[in-house]
Amino acid sequence: MRPVVIGISGASGSLLAKETVDELLRREVPTALVCSNDARLVWQEEMDSPFSETLAQWREHPHLVHYSIGDMKAPIASGTYPTRGMVVVPCSMGSIAAIAHGLSSNLLLRAADVCLKERRRLVVVPRETPLHQVHLENMLTLARMGAVVLPPEPAFYLKPDSVHDMVRFVVGRILVALGIDETLDEKYQYQGPGE
Ligand SMILES: Cc1cc2nc3c(=O)[nH]c(=O)nc-3n(C[C@H](O)[C@H](O)[C@H](O)COP(=O)(O)O)c2cc1C
Repeated sequence: MRPVVIGISGASGSLLAKETVDELLRREVPTALVCSNDARLVWQEEMDSPFSETLAQWREHPHLVHYSIGDMKAPIASGTYPTRGMVVVPCSMGSIAAIAHGLSSNLLLRAADVCLKERRRLVVVPRETPLHQVHLENMLTLARMGAVVLPPEPAFYLKPDSVHDMVRFVVGRILVALGIDETLDEKYQYQGPGE
């Protein structure tokens, strides 16, 4: 099975990245991981255990391959290497800007560029608020190129009762956008007004 590429950039939301990778591995989906240097800094602020510890655990999984951010010789840097597409979660405004403008100065950006040029699925999970004109224009550029722009917004109508619930909802949306799931878990589907 072709791998899904997951890029973790330095926006807030390390938990979204962790839960996405964990879910892919739980389903035994081959996963190619690349993480920016600033993503590690944000992780340090937001998570209870260091990134290196989580990465060491992930690397023990037979379905995960990790590539360094500077490794431009990694297979995911080439369009000839078949993948199922890529998600960048969370996606910083810096990475959004670079991807929207075809700048590929690190492996995460290059892998996203490859998805666009090969017309593969690219899902970006932007995190910033508020958004200025350039942020919005860059996201529009990506949407026009066929990328799915999937902000990690909670579905308040589903009455989430924890951060975990909100994160699980977003991870479900990511899996659907990547074509790994056809529909969301029933728990995260709107069932219409209750009695
Ligand atoms: C704690 C912390 C939180 C951050 N949150 C965001 C964010 O939510 N969105 C964003 O675009 N940048 C955020 N940044 C800034 C990015 O990390 C910075 O612009 C970085 O250069 C992005 O590079 P990268 O996309 O290569 O990871 C944050 C930085 C830190 C240290």
